[in-house]
Amino acid sequence: SLIVPSVQELAKQPIINIPPRYLRSDLEPPILHHHTCLSSVPIIDFHKLAATGDSMDCELERLHSACKDWGFFQVINHGVSTSLLEKLKLEVENFFELSYDEKKKLWQEPDNHEGFGQLFVVSEEQKLDWSDMFYITTLPFNLRNTDLFQKLPPNLRETLDSYSVEARKLAMAMLGYMAKALQMDGEEMRELFSDGVQSMRMNYYPPCPQPDKAIGFTPHSDADALTILLQLSETEGLQIQKGGKWVPVKPLPNAFVVNIGDIMEIVSNGIYRSIEHRATVNSKEERLSIATFYSSKLDSVLGPAPSLIGLNSPAIFRRVPLEKYFKEFFARKLNGKAYLDFMKVDEQ
Ligand code: SIN
Ligand code: FE2
Repeated sequence: SLIVPSVQELAKQPIINIPPRYLRSDLEPPILHHHTCLSSVPIIDFHKLAATGDSMDCELERLHSACKDWGFFQVINHGVSTSLLEKLKLEVENFFELSYDEKKKLWQEPDNHEGFGQLFVVSEEQKLDWSDMFYITTLPFNLRNTDLFQKLPPNLRETLDSYSVEARKLAMAMLGYMAKALQMDGEEMRELFSDGVQSMRMNYYPPCPQPDKAIGFTPHSDADALTILLQLSETEGLQIQKGGKWVPVKPLPNAFVVNIGDIMEIVSNGIYRSIEHRATVNSKEERLSIATFYSSKLDSVLGPAPSLIGLNSPAIFRRVPLEKYFKEFFARKLNGKAYLDFMKVDEQ
């Protein structure tokens, strides 16, 4: 990524017009006040999934539909303690309130995307998002950038230690239920994802004087397998593509928004869908969120699960080593689902 200015600092100035690099004439304008919500993202009760009998079967079927038809759902009764989530929210808020001088010590370097800044910026002309983010690889331990972890505020570091373990547990449990719902060989799923690569992205969207001309997060699909998003307040911003419309996701307090990423679309051979989404901004309130990305293990080879392909369901994606997949992904600018299309088996 190229080095970009801090939008949080920019938004502290009394500006009426945002700088041209943030004017998104390249995108369709966000429809900000979208009160006629047709339907909303499904809510999955994790307690019911862990139960037995009819209640479990029914919730598993709801999970399956959510992954096929929406690619997004909210999870309640997920088992991650409220006190840990409250602590995490507080630490992340404090983190973005550090002085600019403190943050500069944690800013991205040209050859590394970890740290504060923006991802996927490949040219000086490229339009930018109205947000700052902090990106860090959290698991497995041997992939951690220990220098960067050392520089984090100790409270945040401790909270991330606990949260990364909880988020991995939740991701592995969810992948297990998905394997069951897909009638996929559960061992294949465990083999691919135990000790998977986990990273986190903390997002800060400052208020924007021209919210209808900017975007907080460019439309994209996630490159990982499963994303677990915690929104720090009830301020809306996340919108997902559904039936040609942008549907807002209304945050439920302390629930997670979970979405299928490109890797899960590949592994499920297209049965589960990685959906394009974006974040809008508004003129009054800041908004914060923290996304946890879970991918397969570093030395894995991505491709449709062998137990899901057969004569009537040929593989629609190529097989690519995870490291190569990520290297190419991070060298591009975000562009909807273009990267996943690139992973498709060539048309005959
Ligand atoms: C995203 O992770 O793509 C959006 C995050 C957010 O809702 O802030
Ligand atoms: Fe995303």
